[in-house]
Amino acid sequence: MSQVESHLIQIEGEAKSNIVRNRLGKLVSKGHKTYTPTQLVVDRAEGIWLWNLEGQKLMDFASGVLVANLGHQHAYFEERFAFYAKGLPRNAYNVLTAVEVEAASRLIDSFALPKMEQILWAACGSAGIIKAMWAAQRYHPDRHLILATRYGFHGKKGLAGDVTGDKSQNPNVRWIDFPMVKDVRDKPNQTLKVKVLEQLNRLREEYPNQISMLVTEPYLGAKGSYHPPDWYLRTINDWCNDHQVIFILDEVQSCHGRTGEMYATTKYGLDPDLVVCGKGIGNGEPIVAVVGRADLLSTFDYGEASDTFSGTPRGCAATLATLDTFETFPILDNCCQAGQVIEKGLCQLTDEFSFATRVRGEGLVWGLELESDSIANQLVLACYQQGLHLIGPLAGNVLRISPPLIISPTEAEAGIGRMRRALQQI
Ligand SMILES: Cc1ncc(COP(=O)(O)O)c(C=O)c1O
Repeated sequence: MSQVESHLIQIEGEAKSNIVRNRLGKLVSKGHKTYTPTQLVVDRAEGIWLWNLEGQKLMDFASGVLVANLGHQHAYFEERFAFYAKGLPRNAYNVLTAVEVEAASRLIDSFALPKMEQILWAACGSAGIIKAMWAAQRYHPDRHLILATRYGFHGKKGLAGDVTGDKSQNPNVRWIDFPMVKDVRDKPNQTLKVKVLEQLNRLREEYPNQISMLVTEPYLGAKGSYHPPDWYLRTINDWCNDHQVIFILDEVQSCHGRTGEMYATTKYGLDPDLVVCGKGIGNGEPIVAVVGRADLLSTFDYGEASDTFSGTPRGCAATLATLDTFETFPILDNCCQAGQVIEKGLCQLTDEFSFATRVRGEGLVWGLELESDSIANQLVLACYQQGLHLIGPLAGNVLRISPPLIISPTEAEAGIGRMRRALQQI
């Protein structure tokens, strides 16, 4: 038998959790987890709280990875989910269910936009992006070029990976700039608008009638939480409309309330041809939806965009339960209020600690930039000791703050207090 070394972390005083860390390290590929210096072993989760095997209670500042927008075990969500899921088959690969029709209809209606006409399900965010890109390629078979915004993240697989980052193996991908405003307190630079339009027009002149689509996201999450000035998305959306370039907006992360409104699409007054919703759509049930123009999504024949786990009955039930919960509780208002507390608190932390340098974000998706990768990793561990769970740093030195949207402003303030105490230990 080959020797497989345990790759996971051990934390002093956590005998039970260390056993799980060790066993998982041997039994599950390292590639399955994204690095986080705490490797928290969760025993139980409720609302915004997580308990480890030692019984320590931690505030969840991650929501999985911006997935559990309604928190864990939300009573109303769970009740609605059970209601919609009752008696359904486990899979509906080649059968139809009413719950799928209802989920598609409610999701389309939730945008209240004329281009939102049809749904294509997927089982993960990158697959949703790939399916949206396939639709654009089919619609424009004579246009081979794909535009993407530099440093975006759309997934690791196939075409989604091709439009991630700033280099592509795909010879048909061209990049345009995404304005990277360094701090929420900085004034956006208006000259960038001219530069972005120049880039787009230059590409169009160089490749007349060859650009099929433009893929972007409302903010650069994985690159370190860069949120563009208000004009940016509308400007590129208009350019796409003017030149029949399919505008694909990746709302895999921002959908279902993260930015303080249900969708960044409506927050920024956009009319994309295709929107991809992921993470928060089912509050943790794996379901993804490409939503958009019927003439694009109907380019597929039977089976051409299907797969085993796309649009499962339980995924559709969770989609409906999520929408019910947003309609019943003032979650978006709460997100905005708690978001303001987080913004103010993080800005104060940058005033108090010289190695906490910048703050970027909106709604309840924030990034705190630290002076170095090492400090960022130390801070994740120090926060853990203070009872605050964070995911590993983004882009090396940016801490992601993304609690469930149900966190109260008072709890958000308490979370910032835990971060302050952790910063004092660095
Ligand atoms: C904006 C964005 N797009 C696409 C993806 C890929 O989603 P998945 O990991 O479900 O394939 C992610 C995942 O983090 C994301 O944040």
